[in-house]
Amino acid sequence: MDRIRIVGGQRLTGTIPISGAKNATLPLMIAGLLTEDTLILENVPRLADVIQLQRILGNHGVDILIAGKRPGVDPKNGRTIHISAKHIVDTTAPYELVSKMRASFWVVAPLVARMGEAKVSMPGGCAIGTRPVDLLIMALTRLGADIEIEAGYVMARAPKGLRGAEIVFPKVTVGGTHTAMMAASLARGTTVIENAAREPEIADVADCLNKMGANITGAGSARIVIEGVAKLNGARHAVLPDRIETGTYAMAVAMAGGDVLLQNARPELLQSALDVLAGAGLRVTPTNEGIRVTRNGSGLAPVEVTTAPFPGFPTDLQAQLMALMTRAGGTSRITETIFENRFMHVQELARLGANIHLDGQTATIEGVARLKGAPVMATDLRASVSLVIAALAAEGETTVNRVYHLDRGFERLEEKLSACGAAIERISG
Ligand code: EPZ
Repeated sequence: MDRIRIVGGQRLTGTIPISGAKNATLPLMIAGLLTEDTLILENVPRLADVIQLQRILGNHGVDILIAGKRPGVDPKNGRTIHISAKHIVDTTAPYELVSKMRASFWVVAPLVARMGEAKVSMPGGCAIGTRPVDLLIMALTRLGADIEIEAGYVMARAPKGLRGAEIVFPKVTVGGTHTAMMAASLARGTTVIENAAREPEIADVADCLNKMGANITGAGSARIVIEGVAKLNGARHAVLPDRIETGTYAMAVAMAGGDVLLQNARPELLQSALDVLAGAGLRVTPTNEGIRVTRNGSGLAPVEVTTAPFPGFPTDLQAQLMALMTRAGGTSRITETIFENRFMHVQELARLGANIHLDGQTATIEGVARLKGAPVMATDLRASVSLVIAALAAEGETTVNRVYHLDRGFERLEEKLSACGAAIERISG
């Protein structure tokens, strides 16, 4: 299994190109199931989760063409993929595939909406929380699907098609909003989603669906209205930049010190996180090319943060912020409100010398003068990159094990960091 070796203490200077967003790419690829025409997605990141989803879509009969090299296009940039779901030959998503990547459960929505049936494995447990899918099932039931759960599978049927409805989510759910929006696009009549997720990835998917001929208004707000249409067409859509990758590299610069341009990044996609980092002492300067982040010599100030749905502080940056605060000049408090078990990184950061106390969903971090390198273990996607951030400031060598977690959501991480001066390398096997 690959590991990553880091020797701390190097400042970061240069440019980091921000890739397309994983959490937009996955639902956009799934939206390809809604039409028999070809959906072309640009700026698609090279990630393990994207490859896994290609397998899942292929199992339904979807053809995926990856555009080859083009003159003048940097091969390192995002890829263009052509998704053709002309022939859906199988409406079952098996456990072996779904259990490897939870978001693949969302295929239930376009399959039942377009084909009138879907048999999709329940995603199963997850390191960061129980993560039930009851609200996704509630939304499909509201749209008229007949749902049965049997032997770990959700069987959804709507032989006469779905019909518009009012869907009120008791709590904000990104996956619930994506699936309700996709299914309602092909339902007869009007659907209103109340207490919808407002994440930028929701608006990006709605934008793409509207290019495919859907009629969605209000995406990005808490109230989304969808006028169903009989058929959706093909379209071309560029995936928005990854705000979690942006925040992660901004924190890496805050940790190591330096001056880096986060190319293609868009500040409005993660303003709450940028405000927290500015408060901690990072200089954040939006530019025409992206966001410039700088920390020269000044120390880090402690913060008080509670994670929340967008536009609040993203839970997917919580671990990275905790790593940063291990070196702050004082006491920080971070409260996690989205997932009940998202502190797996605490014990690993303690191995590097961090001083963190957990009390329920709140972590109290006492800043320390120095961290010291050690072997550590990645446990989930975001926890793994928090260990990389801590290692950038730790004295000596740190080895991060099980980096397959990282590959799920960070494209060319060690390449991007070493290009800015970090002493980081991947050790294969
Ligand atoms: C999406 O997960 C993201 N994944 C997650 O990113 C992200 O952490 C999360 O949204 C919150 O922002 C993708 O986009 C692929 P939710 P999702 O439904 O949709 C509960 C990463 O690191 N809930 O908004 O699964 C749930 O348990 C990943 O990239 C129910 O109770 O999250 C959680 O406590 C990790 N019943 C809360 O709602 C349901 O039916 C929010 O979950 C659905 C969710």
